[in-house]
Amino acid sequence: MASSMEANFFILFLLVFCSSIHNIISTTTTDLISTNQFIIDGETIVSSGGTFELGFFSPSDSSNRYIGIWYKQILPHIQTVVWVANREKPLTNTSSVQLKVTKPGILALFNDKNETIWFTNTSRSVQNPVAVLLDSGNLVVKDANDNNPEDFLWQSFNFPTDTHLPDMKLGKNFKTGHEVYLSAWKSDNDPAPGEFTRNIDPTGYPQVLTKRGTDVLNRIGPWNGLRWSGAPIPLLTQSRLYTFQFIFNEEEVYYIFSLTNYSSVLSRIVITSNGDIERFMWVEQTKRWHSHYKLPADNCDTYRLCGEHGSCDLGTQPICGCLDKFVPKYPQQWEKGDWTTGCVRRTPLDCNREHVFIKYPGFKLPDTKHCQYNKTMTLEGCRQVCSTDCSCTAYSSLDISNGDKGCLLWFGELVDIRKLSERGQDIFIKMDYLEEESEAGSKRKKATILAVSFSLLMATILLILILLWYKRKKKKLKHREDFELPLFPLATITRATNNFSLNNKIGEGGFGPVYKGVLEEGQEIAVKRLSRTSMQGIDEYKNEVIYIAKLQHRNLVRLLGCCIQGEEKMLIYEYMPNNSLDSYIFDQTKNKLLDWPKRFNIINGIARGLLYLHQDSRLRIIHRDLKASNVLLDTEMNPKISDFGMARSVTGNEMGAKTRNVVGTHGYMSPEYAVDGMFSVKSDVFSFGVLVLEIVSGKKNRGFMHQDHNLNLLGHAWKLYKDDRSLELADEQLADSCNISQVLRSIQVGLLCVQQHPDDRPSMSSVVHMLANESLLPKAKEPGFFTERNIFDEGKSGSQTRSSKNEFTITMLDPR
Ligand SMILES: *[C@@H]1O[C@H](CO)[C@@H](O)[C@H](O)[C@H]1NC(C)=O
Ligand SMILES: *[C@@H]1O[C@H](CO)[C@@H](O)[C@H](O)[C@H]1NC(C)=O
Ligand SMILES: *[C@@H]1O[C@H](CO)[C@@H](O)[C@H](O)[C@H]1NC(C)=O
Ligand SMILES: *[C@@H]1O[C@H](CO)[C@@H](O)[C@H](O)[C@H]1NC(C)=O
Ligand SMILES: *[C@@H]1O[C@H](CO)[C@@H](O)[C@H](O)[C@H]1NC(C)=O
Repeated sequence: MASSMEANFFILFLLVFCSSIHNIISTTTTDLISTNQFIIDGETIVSSGGTFELGFFSPSDSSNRYIGIWYKQILPHIQTVVWVANREKPLTNTSSVQLKVTKPGILALFNDKNETIWFTNTSRSVQNPVAVLLDSGNLVVKDANDNNPEDFLWQSFNFPTDTHLPDMKLGKNFKTGHEVYLSAWKSDNDPAPGEFTRNIDPTGYPQVLTKRGTDVLNRIGPWNGLRWSGAPIPLLTQSRLYTFQFIFNEEEVYYIFSLTNYSSVLSRIVITSNGDIERFMWVEQTKRWHSHYKLPADNCDTYRLCGEHGSCDLGTQPICGCLDKFVPKYPQQWEKGDWTTGCVRRTPLDCNREHVFIKYPGFKLPDTKHCQYNKTMTLEGCRQVCSTDCSCTAYSSLDISNGDKGCLLWFGELVDIRKLSERGQDIFIKMDYLEEESEAGSKRKKATILAVSFSLLMATILLILILLWYKRKKKKLKHREDFELPLFPLATITRATNNFSLNNKIGEGGFGPVYKGVLEEGQEIAVKRLSRTSMQGIDEYKNEVIYIAKLQHRNLVRLLGCCIQGEEKMLIYEYMPNNSLDSYIFDQTKNKLLDWPKRFNIINGIARGLLYLHQDSRLRIIHRDLKASNVLLDTEMNPKISDFGMARSVTGNEMGAKTRNVVGTHGYMSPEYAVDGMFSVKSDVFSFGVLVLEIVSGKKNRGFMHQDHNLNLLGHAWKLYKDDRSLELADEQLADSCNISQVLRSIQVGLLCVQQHPDDRPSMSSVVHMLANESLLPKAKEPGFFTERNIFDEGKSGSQTRSSKNEFTITMLDPR
């Protein structure tokens, strides 16, 4: 048994080995086959620019031989086949097999018995036919002297297999009736057509469908002038690397994408043997295909998941809901999660009664299979047409690339709708006039309820404030210390901050408000004022003064001095006009200001600042509360680490310590620190890793939500990383500016930093090195804290936790 397996393996090995030997020894460097030559197994032709190669191949785990086209530059062991000729008729014996061109212009594959296994078709004949492999990956049969694409006798771009290459038209020619669509391989080792296809269905208004047999699996929606209505906007589809076109006229409908620079990027869309649509890009630095778009991306992509008039929204629980003003058709089934029956209007439409149109903003447009359209009509004209047609149920504009243009009309039920918010479109749905009226009435009611709740809330807050004030009165703070820092007189600070005017307040730090000020000599300062109610603040204040006064680095915020007078305690810093990092990366509009070069600079700056703390400063300092809101940005967007209230110094060779005072911020704390109070430079490295992933993705680790899984940002990043899909993590805003290899490198460094075991995490000096060099990075292991979102919300027995669910630094105190 074992020996026969070994023998099989050996044969397989020989086959693979022999075929690669063939490839190596083949000396053909031509890009064409003419009538007086042919190619046999082992020989290939290569496109003129060297991008593609055509020859015989065997899929993995198969000894069948096929004629195919693959990328020439990509290493043989990841041979990526983009087209197969005889996909349904494999050759099992390739001795004396020939691929040749015959008159009047046919490219054909003959087997050892001189039978035609596969051939191209032509309706014309030419004098001197040749088959040429173009650098686009298109294999064409044409007259040797005629390069006009219109005159090609045959081209493989008209008969794709599972791959959509740049410049290939996917769609339908209405004159000839010929349809160009993708069909998946049956399995990874059988290129025969499988069940899954992807095509542009021109019924109604054209849309792209993925089908299994005749069943629609998903629908990316009609083209809206910019993109497919239901398409996510992943990093690179927005990018300047690509251009997209959708052409729809009397003669043809097709979709085509092109590259702006063919020498820098290899890209393809493929329908996999299990029906996924995936767009890949080759990244030379990593020598891998990286996926940056996958359909279905989540459950909401499932066709008709929420039935008629149901809308899918990843942000809600459950994900299916009725459109506003619609109710479940069968409430009991709906409650049980059987959404297929869908929803109906609360007030049914009646043609004899008055109606209105209600705007539903931000949706993927419903199935357009039964739609009518007019490309020139205005939106108002569209409304009128829909209004006068009794069976019309909704309308929207056809093209939003330049304001609203054209008209799309729906008749009957609306299906396969999904909430997309800002990247979605507006659809106007016909509604009974009475429905709108009753809604207005209930709004008024709601407003009253809201007002009452608000008053109650205010009263509660007031009560709490009074209690706090009373408590404070009962306590006396006493504290004195000697500082080696410049002391500012209170009067100077009062003047600089306009008497702590509210207008000067720029934030609320861990232990009190922060004010902007201008000293008499014009220097701008930030004043951190210890709030008198804060008990905890005193220690932190002292701590901060002790540590930061001794530190000097361009990536650490600089302390200019302090001010102690009576009960007032203040720290004076250099002023950072751009506030903190979190106000940029997590903000829908301000994140545009941080392009990739800036973000990469920020990642590197934080790394250097932290390295200085850990190794290069006189004290070895563990920050313990590194997070986005503790990184300030100067005018040039250079990062400066701030807030040393929680910092601890470790001496000599000591790398860490244990504490019962676990302080830090949820989402940034390493497992060994949060759970056991073990802190070390490696717990800072963990926080740094979280920060890197947040900077790349523009999303917060804590509070991260994803429909497909219950993981936080770390878990999500890890999952994508394992699937080779790391690019999907990157913030959409980076599309135009990103350097793919830097993005991938940063993500991997981030994942290395958040590994479960402290010993696995790199030191900050390796981090700085890894970010700066193109060297190969180690593989990341599983991150710590990536599944349970709310490890603290449960509370931990035996420790007194004062944890808050919000963004603020939390402290777990031991009783003194
Ligand atoms: C392949 O075909 C050749 C010629 O027809 C024949 O000699 C050879 O035995 C065949 N090989 C196999 C494995 O069938
Ligand atoms: C193969 O068949 C064609 C006719 O179909 C003939 O012209 C050709 O000579 C044959 N080739 C061989 C090698 O027998
Ligand atoms: C070849 O073309 C002819 C006419 O152009 C057509 O009738 C025939 O079905 C085609 N054959 C194949 C295999 O496509
Ligand atoms: C295209 O990419 C190559 C390789 O990255 C680069 O050298 C070249 O300058 C680019 N051309 C344009 C027009 O951007
Ligand atoms: C589209 O609308 C325009 C203007 O409203 C009208 O003139 C034209 O006939 C319409 N086209 C079709 C095909 O209905």
